[in-house]
Amino acid sequence: MDINDLYEQNYVPYSKKASVAVVRSKNGKWFPGVRIENICYPLSISATQNALFYCLSEGHEPAELFTDEIHATMIPSWEKELGITSNPLEKDELHNITFDNPVLEADLNKIDKLKELLDMAVVGESDFPVSAIVETEQGYFTGVNIECTSWNMGLCAERVAIAKALTFSSKNLISLEIHTRKGEFSSPCGACRQVIKEHLPKKQIHLHHADDSESIHFSEDLLPHSFSSSSLSNR
Ligand code: THU
Repeated sequence: MDINDLYEQNYVPYSKKASVAVVRSKNGKWFPGVRIENICYPLSISATQNALFYCLSEGHEPAELFTDEIHATMIPSWEKELGITSNPLEKDELHNITFDNPVLEADLNKIDKLKELLDMAVVGESDFPVSAIVETEQGYFTGVNIECTSWNMGLCAERVAIAKALTFSSKNLISLEIHTRKGEFSSPCGACRQVIKEHLPKKQIHLHHADDSESIHFSEDLLPHSFSSSSLSNR
């Protein structure tokens, strides 16, 4: 996958305006991000946040951001929050970058992986790690919660995993696994339920609780009467 492919990976059914961001980590690895919109517009994930959080969720420190969202008012906040520098995305200058695909193979032990992932969560504010795995036709994509000193700039593990899967995979997400060690009952927040419903309609959501029990729910059951409107064009 290269930069031009990334424009195709955007999920922008509402604005139809694709964006791409690329992050270079301190150790020279590249992490891409695309815009992931939601029918509840404020729940949308910018290409910049997607790329930065992909980098952080894999245990790398972001150093430099390249984004076509350079005029977005959030960029100075990301610079301050993460100590990064940012530049306009010049496709010609970055044309030779290729990205590793973080997909995991089909014989993954999901429980072991969910437990292992908790150590990757960036939880300086809450010390409450959460892990998530999305199954797609390509394989599995992982996510952990990423916190910022400005709390509203962070993202839950479920949304980090979904954003990564959509950036690298087909649009067809098959199921989602969620795990917390500290919560008695692992359960996605309301905002995540709206995002889950949009990308995993009628799919199974597996909640792995702290006592190693599991409950399985259909996404619709997790958010009855979720927000939708035929005035907002959707897939
Ligand atoms: N959190 C998740 O990652 N997923 C949820 O569905 C619920 C909450 C995280 C967000 C934040 O980092 C921490 O838990 C405390 O709210």
